[in-house]
Amino acid sequence: MAEELIINNSGSKAERYAALLPQIKNLVNGESDVIANLANIAAALKQTMNFYWVGFYLVKDNQLVLGPFQGPIACTRIGYGNGVCGTSWKDKRTIVVPNVDEFPGHIACSSASKSEIVLPAFKKDQIALVLDVDSDSLNDFDQTDQRYLEEVIRIIEQFI
Ligand code: SME
Repeated sequence: MAEELIINNSGSKAERYAALLPQIKNLVNGESDVIANLANIAAALKQTMNFYWVGFYLVKDNQLVLGPFQGPIACTRIGYGNGVCGTSWKDKRTIVVPNVDEFPGHIACSSASKSEIVLPAFKKDQIALVLDVDSDSLNDFDQTDQRYLEEVIRIIEQFI
């Protein structure tokens, strides 16, 4: 695997995602340990996209449990259907939240979080984990984030 990411900080959001995706594939190539791969993916996303918080919640014993992440400390457990993460798990779909204060039941791990995107990853027909990204600005996530982060999810689904 490469030791350093090549990041073009002056590129557009789409350009940075497009440059990152093949590097994420390389990072996980040949490594089968799920936690090691998720940890590197969280770090790569944080470094490249400068997210406020980015990480994973893993389905364990019918709860979401905090996994590898980058950013401030976060809630450790989330119930089925609770918050944005639990709703993404329950509804089996990506959720984009432009303003977390307007999402019923949003779980505020940090008062600095203003907008959020959560994407589920499937193992066979079941959700195995969700990818959660938080921003300290309102309206920070759009179709571009959804499209590229869903590609990251497709990479993750190859090794979970
Ligand atoms: N806000 C999330 C909880 C996780 S933290 O943002 C890291 C939610 O409502 O599910």
